[in-house]
Amino acid sequence: MYLYHQGKHTRQAHVDLPEGTFEEEHGRLGFFGPVSHLYRVHPPTDWTSFEGPLRPRAFDFNEARPADIDDPRGSRLRLMYNNDVVVSISRRSEAMPYYFRNGDGDEVWFVHEGEGRIETDYGELTYEKGDYIVIPRVTTYRVHPSTKENFFLIIEAIPQVTVPSMAQKGLIGVHALFDQSAITLPKLPDVYEERAGTDHEIVVQREGTWTSVVYPFNPLDAVGWKGDCYPWKINVRDIRPVMSHRVHLPPPAHTTFMLNNAVICTFLPRPLEEDADALKVPFYHRNADYDEVLFYHAGNFFSRDNIKPGMVTFHPTGMHHGPHPKALANMHKIERTDEIAVMLDTLNTLHIAPESESVEWKEYWQSWKKK
Ligand SMILES: [Fe+2]
Repeated sequence: MYLYHQGKHTRQAHVDLPEGTFEEEHGRLGFFGPVSHLYRVHPPTDWTSFEGPLRPRAFDFNEARPADIDDPRGSRLRLMYNNDVVVSISRRSEAMPYYFRNGDGDEVWFVHEGEGRIETDYGELTYEKGDYIVIPRVTTYRVHPSTKENFFLIIEAIPQVTVPSMAQKGLIGVHALFDQSAITLPKLPDVYEERAGTDHEIVVQREGTWTSVVYPFNPLDAVGWKGDCYPWKINVRDIRPVMSHRVHLPPPAHTTFMLNNAVICTFLPRPLEEDADALKVPFYHRNADYDEVLFYHAGNFFSRDNIKPGMVTFHPTGMHHGPHPKALANMHKIERTDEIAVMLDTLNTLHIAPESESVEWKEYWQSWKKK
């Protein structure tokens, strides 16, 4: 297609908006495809009513209660899902009495709260708040929290998760957004521990159902390994976001993981744009190709009112979202953002589980209304 324009517009997206206008980005392929900017006289979120399933939604996952919060044999709680991803939370307070193996997909655990260790086929990883832990499909593992209050956001990636390739990093170079050397691998124990005399159960998940298999010895019995398939972790403090001091960059600049028909991005503390005419908040957009989930981990979520850590917003394909009025009004008063948030964008429709609906903030769709 060819580049055209009509009426009032800017020469540079997100900068020097025509007086009295609100910029909306209407783009395809998650900010990589054809794109136009519309300069509107009203914020596109100034609706007055909603009927039907596509309203913007928000959920307080702090209020959701996975069975593993007080039952060691209990499972995580599935809150959103489609054929490519499953979003769950775990509040596990005690060690798993079994070993677990996911036959459906790779897992990305984000540690929102808590500390502990995970035993795996490849050795042991300790974890802390802010860690992303990547566990390849069919790895056997066991989670041992050392804290009582724990909160994991778990994204199952069917069938697998990768990091952006060197080609995808392109102009920003191979060491962005984190150096490969910054990841942590599990460490094998110095001496294999047989743990004889106890039954060792492995629970294997396939298509959501569980199979139990028992060994008379500790099944994590590897005394060595080699290869490029293994669990690993990176903490958000070791991810170094890119930004431009002159123009607001789109979410793909913050991509952490690539999934099948989905992507995980991490929004991290960073200085805001310096130029007086540059937009400092996410521009209004209607998702053309992706459902968008944002999990709020820490900091002050300045572009969203009434959102606290542990909450989740859901912006479905087709509907607009953008900064809340207060953020838009105050954007020139602040110089940095200290927010940490995990975004999951899915190409295919995400289904919302009833357990999410039970912790929904039903009026979220009205939250753009000027007070
Ligand atoms: Fe968005």
